[in-house]
Amino acid sequence: MTAVDLRGVRIFPGYLDHGQQVEMLEALREVVRQAPFYHPVTPGGRQMSVRMTAAGQFGWVTDRTGYRYEPRHPEGMAWPAIPEAVLAVWRDVAPEARLLESCLVNYYGEGARMGLHQDRDEADFSQPVVSISLGDEGLFRVGNVERGGKTQSVWLRSGDVLVIGGAARLVHHGVDRIKFGTSPLLKDGGRINLTLRVVT
Ligand code: SIN
Ligand code: MN
Repeated sequence: MTAVDLRGVRIFPGYLDHGQQVEMLEALREVVRQAPFYHPVTPGGRQMSVRMTAAGQFGWVTDRTGYRYEPRHPEGMAWPAIPEAVLAVWRDVAPEARLLESCLVNYYGEGARMGLHQDRDEADFSQPVVSISLGDEGLFRVGNVERGGKTQSVWLRSGDVLVIGGAARLVHHGVDRIKFGTSPLLKDGGRINLTLRVVT
């Protein structure tokens, strides 16, 4: 499958077909049943507009104490296992990478967004970040490794996969808005983004 380059971020449009998206969603339902979505709060005390949960050895969490990876959900349970369909995407688009340790699950309801940021809470920046989009379209913005400067945006659709690695591993990125109700995948609308990472 050919990738589109956006400032060093590799985009695989339509990587998952509809059947594969439905299958992944089914597996995620089980993850969410065991580890429910919660509303994260930034260290500054603001509630994030996305809801989060995770699978794998570690989940990224934020609260008044700060940003970090934790082996447990804020409610105390261990994170569920990463679904096989998710592991398969990781192995395919990042064949050189180490074993996947974390699958963060973000849910964007109507009006949710994610400000421009870098993924830098991991120990080994030689390892890529892989992201999978499911459901409604999201406007993804990519900037630079340094703060500021030009940015470029692309609408991510259900089934699209990104690899944020190599020289682009620390680029600033975010989601400005979603087009609520543009995909029939999630019964009640919204967007799910899976972010796959090696943490240690
Ligand atoms: C993230 O950067 O954590 C999420 C990106 C996305 O939702 O596409
Ligand atoms: Mn990120």
